[in-house]
Amino acid sequence: MQTEIKQITPQTLAEAKHIILTGGVVAIPTETVYGLGGNAFDDEAVRRIFEVKGRPNDNPLIAHVHSDYDLSKIIDRDPPYAQKLRETFLPGPLTLVYPSTGKVSPYVSCGLNTLAVRIPSHTGAQAFLKEIDIPIVAPSANLSKHVSPTSAQHVYDDFAGKIPLILDGGVCVGGIESTVCDVTGDVPVVLRPGLITREMIAAVVGSCEEYVPDLKKGEKVKSPGVLYKHYSPRCKTVLYACERTAEALEFCRKAEGKVAVLCEEKIVEAFSKAGVAVLSLGDTETEMANRLYDLLREAERICDTLIAIEPQKKDGVMVGVLNRLRKACVSVDILH
Ligand code: TXA
Ligand code: MG
Repeated sequence: MQTEIKQITPQTLAEAKHIILTGGVVAIPTETVYGLGGNAFDDEAVRRIFEVKGRPNDNPLIAHVHSDYDLSKIIDRDPPYAQKLRETFLPGPLTLVYPSTGKVSPYVSCGLNTLAVRIPSHTGAQAFLKEIDIPIVAPSANLSKHVSPTSAQHVYDDFAGKIPLILDGGVCVGGIESTVCDVTGDVPVVLRPGLITREMIAAVVGSCEEYVPDLKKGEKVKSPGVLYKHYSPRCKTVLYACERTAEALEFCRKAEGKVAVLCEEKIVEAFSKAGVAVLSLGDTETEMANRLYDLLREAERICDTLIAIEPQKKDGVMVGVLNRLRKACVSVDILH
């Protein structure tokens, strides 16, 4: 199969619609990362998405809809605080997990009785969702466990020959996946941190919890995605806490093969002076979110070993950035 990257126009949207309505898969841009889209009502299309990504079949998908879509078709209960969150943050990088009406394919939620719903703000994504006017399931458009894609080229690198069409909506501005927030209970619970932070949610609705699975108790995990190793570049990785920069520098000196360092801008000089290739995440939390995945993909092209140093700031959007970085890289403490 030939994979084409096309700009979003009325013609390519009609082409994408045809592919989706005949059970196919199309990659689409969003403001966070690119997604691999398929018809949420079509069992075969949903199964095809799991197959083409190599995704474990217990990790549910998010249904994407346009901003005027009638949510009562797919969700069963809509608490007032969830409505408030939608009014404040959507369209945008926040996914809400509701009780499901069970109308979409049972494969979408992998047997859970909930449905994750996302209304993306990207204009190309909105145009695509309006053109089709049905919920579109769209996991991040990367092969399972690989780094999520923030450009059409990233999607092509993972899926050339496996999907017919990639709609090109430019480089994603957000850079890490949406915040996933459970709204089935009395208070919202963040299942996956992202650009809409727990503090931002609590500021609107009074409180917000963070989900930490306690697997020892034999509890069934609420968001299976939190369990998997994810976002990994195809090179060796070693992650250091920011207090251990000197040790990381020492590691660079001794390491064999090509080495690169991923770190925040303010400590770049320490490594570049020592002659090490440096991939800078930048200074601000939004810059770091925006650059992370592109740099992890760059790392696998330029080095055998990536040494990543955790940025100093740990709160706000950095909760999401650190969550991804820690899943992408192996902690030095595990190596020793
Ligand atoms: O920004 C994003 O959310 C991107 C773009 C393409 O929209 N999509 C994305 O999808 O990141 P994916 O499949 O890579 O991640 C979906 C996450 C997983 O951690 C999954 O476990 C969780 O959402 N999830 C989906 N449905 C759920 C449900 N019913 N209950 C709990 N967690 C759910
Ligand atoms: Mg993903």
